[in-house]
Amino acid sequence: MKFLHALTQTAALLSLGLSVEGKFNRARNEACKPKHPFHPLPPSPPRKRTCHVPSNGDGTDDAHHVLSTLRKCNNGGKIVFDEDKEYTIGTAMDMTFLRHVDLEILGTIKFSNDTDYWQENSFRHGFQNATTFFQLGGVDVNVYGGGTLDGNGQVWYDLFHEEALTLRPILVGIIGLKGGTIGPLKLRYSPQWYQLVANSTDVLFDGIDISGYSSSENEAKNTDGWDTYRSSNIVIQNSVVNNGDDCVSFKPNSTDIIVQNMHCNGSHGISVGSLGQYKGEVDIVKNILVYNISMYNASDMARIKVWPGVASAMSEDLQGGGGLGAVSNITYDKMYIDNVDWAIEVTQCYGQKNQTLCNQFPSNLTISDVHIKNMWGTTSGKRDPNVGTIVCSSPDVCKDIHVSNIDVTSPSGTDDYICTNVDESLLDVNCSSG
Ligand SMILES: *[C@@H]1O[C@H](CO)[C@@H](O)[C@H](O)[C@H]1NC(C)=O
Ligand SMILES: *[C@@H]1O[C@H](CO)[C@@H](O)[C@H](O)[C@H]1NC(C)=O
Ligand SMILES: *[C@@H]1O[C@H](CO)[C@@H](O)[C@H](O)[C@H]1NC(C)=O
Ligand SMILES: *[C@@H]1O[C@H](CO)[C@@H](O)[C@H](O)[C@H]1NC(C)=O
Ligand SMILES: *[C@@H]1O[C@H](CO)[C@@H](O)[C@H](O)[C@H]1NC(C)=O
Ligand SMILES: *[C@@H]1O[C@H](CO)[C@@H](O)[C@H](O)[C@H]1NC(C)=O
Ligand SMILES: *[C@@H]1O[C@H](CO)[C@@H](O)[C@H](O)[C@H]1NC(C)=O
Ligand SMILES: *[C@@H]1O[C@H](CO)[C@@H](O)[C@H](O)[C@H]1NC(C)=O
Ligand SMILES: *[C@@H]1O[C@H](CO)[C@@H](O)[C@H](O)[C@H]1NC(C)=O
Ligand SMILES: *[C@@H]1O[C@H](CO)[C@@H](O)[C@H](O)[C@H]1NC(C)=O
Ligand SMILES: *[C@@H]1O[C@H](CO)[C@@H](O)[C@H](O)[C@H]1NC(C)=O
Repeated sequence: MKFLHALTQTAALLSLGLSVEGKFNRARNEACKPKHPFHPLPPSPPRKRTCHVPSNGDGTDDAHHVLSTLRKCNNGGKIVFDEDKEYTIGTAMDMTFLRHVDLEILGTIKFSNDTDYWQENSFRHGFQNATTFFQLGGVDVNVYGGGTLDGNGQVWYDLFHEEALTLRPILVGIIGLKGGTIGPLKLRYSPQWYQLVANSTDVLFDGIDISGYSSSENEAKNTDGWDTYRSSNIVIQNSVVNNGDDCVSFKPNSTDIIVQNMHCNGSHGISVGSLGQYKGEVDIVKNILVYNISMYNASDMARIKVWPGVASAMSEDLQGGGGLGAVSNITYDKMYIDNVDWAIEVTQCYGQKNQTLCNQFPSNLTISDVHIKNMWGTTSGKRDPNVGTIVCSSPDVCKDIHVSNIDVTSPSGTDDYICTNVDESLLDVNCSSG
C-alpha cells in the first residue's frame, strides 16, 4: 500500500515536472537538468549488520529502545523501525554520537503530547529560541525508509494560541551531522518548523513529504519545511511540502546550498532569512541555488528578508534588527507560480511596518549578486497591481540585483513592481510603483 502510494505520488510529480520542463523548453530552448552539490558528498560504506528497534506498542515511551539499539548497532550497522509498528517517543533523545549508521524507518515514530515535559527538556539551540524533540548528528548517517515522523502538533497549535511564548519543538533536529542522506520520509504535524539543519555539512535531503494541518481553529503556525543554520554543502530536493510558512529558509551562515525539484504549497516561499535580527551579530548567506520550483497558494516565491539597521519590535514573538553581514551569490532559476501573492519580495525592512524608520537606519546587512530569472505563472492578485517588490533601505547596501525573463501577471493582467533604492537598469520588469 505504502509503496503504491509512493508510486502514484511520483507519477503525479513527474507529470507536473514534465509540464514545467516543457514550458521552460519552449520559453528558453534550454534543458532543465538537476544540479550537482557544490562539493561532492562523501562516500557511505555499506552497513554490515541489522538491528530491529523493539516497541512497547502501548503508547508508553520507546526512547530507551531507540537509544540502546543505536548503541548496539552504531559503527557500521543499520537499525530498523519495523513497518506497522508505532513507536512513541516521550524523552528527548541525544543522537549526536552516530558513526556510519543507517536508520531505516518503515513504521511510525510519534512524539508524546506532554507539552510540559518537552518545554522543559527539548534541546535548545539558541537561535530564534529553536528547540528540537531530538538531535541527530555525527558522521555518515542515512535516514530513510519512507515511514512517518509525527509531531502530534495539535496540542501545540492550541497551546501556542493561548501562550505566544510556548517553546514548540521542531520535529527533526539535524545537529552537527557531517555527511549523510535524509529521505524518503513523511513528516507530519510538527509543532513548529519541520526541520532544523544546524552545524551540519555534506547532507542530502531527498524525498521528504511534509504535511499537517490543524483540526481546530488555531492554525499550525511557523511550520517551515527546512531551516538551515551554520551549515554548508546541503542539497534539498525532490520533495513535496504542504505547510503554512517558509518552504525552505536559509538562516544565518548558510552557504553552498542547492534546493531543487520542489513542490511547495501554502507556504511563504523559499526565503533567505530573516537575517540581521540580532544586534551586532554577523549573518552570512552566500552561494545559494534555488532551481526548478513549483510554488502554489503561497505568500511568496523568491524572498529575501533582512531586518532594519536598528532594533524594533513588531510583536511579542517577533522582534529584532541591528544585525550585520551579507547576502551574496543567490540564484533563483526556473520557477512556476500559481496563486502566489509576491513573485519576488526583497525587503530590508523585515519585522517593521515603518519604512521611514528603515530608511533612516539602513540595514547593516548588505545584499549583492542576486539573480532571479526564468519565472512564469500567475499571482493571487492580493497585491494588485503589483506582482513583486524590491525595496532596499539604501542603494549603498543593495547591489547587483538582477531580474530577468519573468513572465508573471496577476489574474487581472497587471505586472507592476515596487522598486526602491535599487538599480532599476538591472531589473527587466516594470518598476512602475514606488
Ligand atoms: C495525550 O496523549 C494521551 C496518550 O496517548 C491521551 O490519552 C491524551 O488524551 C492526550 N491528550 C491530549 C490533550 O491530546
Ligand atoms: C553549533 O556549534 C557551536 C560551536 O561549537 C555551538 O556553540 C552550538 O551550540 C552548536 N549548535 C547550534 C544549533 O548552533
Ligand atoms: C526568545 O528568547 C528571548 C530571550 O532570549 C525572549 O526575550 C523571547 O521572548 C523569547 N521568545 C519566545 C517566542 O519564546
Ligand atoms: C522539476 O521538479 C519536479 C518536481 O517538482 C520534478 O518532477 C521534475 O523531474 C524536475 N525536472 C527536472 C528536469 O529535474
Ligand atoms: C495547499 O494549500 C492550501 C492553502 O493553504 C490548502 O488549503 C490545501 O489543502 C493544500 N493542498 C494540499 C494538497 O495539502
Ligand atoms: C557567522 O559567520 C560570521 C563570519 O564568519 C561569524 O562572524 C559569525 O559569528 C557567525 N555566526 C554564527 C551564528 O555562527
Ligand atoms: C555562486 O553560485 C553558483 C551557483 O548558483 C556557483 O556555481 C558558483 O560557484 C558560486 N560562486 C562562488 C564564488 O562560489
Ligand atoms: C491550492 O489551494 C486550492 C484551494 O485551497 C486547492 O484547491 C489546490 O489544490 C491547492 N493547490 C495545490 C497544488 O495543492
Ligand atoms: C516612523 O519612524 C520615524 C523615524 O524614526 C518616526 O519619526 C515616526 O514617528 C514613525 N512613525 C510611526 C507611525 O511610528
Ligand atoms: C548600523 O547601522 C546603523 C544605522 O544605519 C548605524 O548607525 C550603525 O553605526 C551601524 N552599526 C555598525 C556596527 O555598523
Ligand atoms: C511592462 O509593461 C508594458 C506595458 O504594459 C509591457 O508592454 C511590457 O511587456 C512590460 N514589461 C515587462 C518586462 O514585463
